[in-house]
Formats: sequence, structure tokens, C-alpha cells
Amino acid sequence: MVLKELQNIFHIELDAIYGQHEVNSFFYLCTEHYLDIARIQLTLEPELAITKPETETFFKALEHLKQQKPIQYLLGGTEFFGLPFKVNKNVLIPRPETEELVDLIIRGHSQQNKVSKLKILDIGTGSGCISISLAKNLPNAEVYALDISKEALKVAKQNAELNNVDITFIEANILDENCHSALDAESTFNIIVSNPPYVRNLEKQEIQPNVLDNEPHLALFVEDDNPLIFYKAITEFAVKNLKPKGQLYFEINQYLGKETKQLLVDAEFEAIELLKDLNGNDRMLKGTKI
Ligand SMILES: C[S@@+](CC[C@H](N)C(=O)[O-])C[C@H]1O[C@@H](n2cnc3c(N)ncnc32)[C@H](O)[C@@H]1O
Repeated sequence: MVLKELQNIFHIELDAIYGQHEVNSFFYLCTEHYLDIARIQLTLEPELAITKPETETFFKALEHLKQQKPIQYLLGGTEFFGLPFKVNKNVLIPRPETEELVDLIIRGHSQQNKVSKLKILDIGTGSGCISISLAKNLPNAEVYALDISKEALKVAKQNAELNNVDITFIEANILDENCHSALDAESTFNIIVSNPPYVRNLEKQEIQPNVLDNEPHLALFVEDDNPLIFYKAITEFAVKNLKPKGQLYFEINQYLGKETKQLLVDAEFEAIELLKDLNGNDRMLKGTKI
């Protein structure tokens, strides 16, 4: 089948769900992934044809996309901070807002990293996107990453190998105080970072069905009556496990900026900053332990 014809079928079937622009980008991601054919090649060779089995692969992908399965799960991978990451249903698909958090940390610590070996802990690592991008861009750092999910940690380990970085992975529940003592053995950290679950059940109606039906709820949701449960536990942990002048970084729920900031104020952190993402929403919080 001629690829251009196939592209038209994608538009006919999917434009109403995703819009023309996004369908084009899905199609090009598929041609790159399944055929190793770049977008430019398709433009230069409009009559480019593919075999029957290759066409069938595209039709299978089309069916999944019609059911709103995220393209990243379909292709088994995505890009974060310019690096390749494997993903599957056990890990959250890394988000652009989280790239902003990583960028903030790298900008804040690259000088310090040249003169001293930073010790970093990422809590709720998922695909490993935060810890791995930090390890890659702060090459002197000693990086630890924890998650409660064995399956997520399997993916994160593959991603560390894929990106050629050395990270110590720990399976632990940050809400369990015993886990805190297990981590004490690792001594104290210069940086603790976390993008923990923060979406309240009451916000579920704002979540796209493709997220709700496919991404792990363990990574996303918290109870309405205690939405800051992870931030409280991690702040408490950071008070004990950050070095003096060590820094705590959070990605946060945009609707709970003030309340999350208050946790750091109450824990006597200094230089606390609540920062907005590119969409103008409260999204990042940082503070320094006295
Ligand atoms: C919002 S996701 C963040 C994943 C990744 N760091 C990112 O930014 O894309 C939250 C992660 O926290 C993990 N998690 C949930 N409950 C946890 C717990 N009690 N202890 C440790 N990790 C937990 C989930 O498995 C998930 O990987």
C-alpha cells in the first residue's frame, strides 16, 4: 500500500478524535518506529509503498488509537529531556511540566556539581525520567531513585541502561516510616526531588479518558480528604534526610500551590519558591533546609 493513502485513512478515522495536526504527528511517529522512515522521506517520495504485513501493523495501531490508547504505550517509548525512555502501562508517561522541573534542578546545581559530588534522591521515580535526566546532565552526581511499584522499577532500570547511567533503585513505600529508616543507611542527600501522585478524585472529570483508562492510577490519584499525603511524608523525610542547605524540589498540583508551600514554611525551610509552568499554572516548589 502507498503510505500517503494510509495516511489519508488515519485522517479519516482519527481526525474527529484528535485533530489533523496530532494525527499527522501520530502517523510520522509510526512510520519512524515501524519502518524507520523519517518524515522528510515521506515528503520527498510521495509514492513510497509498504508490504502487506507492514500495512497490517499500521491498521492494528490505528485500532488502538481509535480506542484512545496513548501512542507512547503503543510504541513502547517516548522522549523526555531529549533522551529516549521505554514506557508501558506500569509507568506514567513523562510530562513536559516535569521536564521544566528537571531543567530547574540542573540550572540550579550544575556549578555545584562541578566542584562536589551531589547526592540526589528521586521519590516515586516511575519510568525514571527525573533521576535519569539528572544523572545524565549532572554527571558527577550519585543518584538514588525509589518507587513502591516493582513493575515501574523494572522499566526505570531498563531506562537507566538505555541511557547509560548508574542509578541505585530502591523498592519502598515512602508513606511507611520503616522505609525512612531503610533509607537512613544511604545517609543524607543534597537534593530530594519528587513528582508524587497528586490528582484528587474530584479532579477526575478534568482528566482525559485516554489518561484515565490507560495510565496507572497508583501514579496519579490521592484521596480528596488528604491530597497532600505524599508532600507531608516527603517533607518530613526531607527534614531528616537532607544535608544542611540541601534542597527539596516538588512537582505539585496546580490548585494546591499555597497549601503545599505552607508545608515547607511549617517545616522551617528557607528560600521557598512557588514557580509556575509554561502554561502559567503553579507547578513547582523548592525550598532549602536550614
Ligand atoms: C506522578 S508519578 C511520577 C513518575 C515519574 N517520576 C514522572 O515524573 O513521570 C508517581 C510515582 O509514585 C509512585 N508511588 C505511588 N505511591 C508510592 C508510595 N507510597 N511510595 C513510593 N512511590 C509511590 C508511583 O508508582 C509512580 O511511579
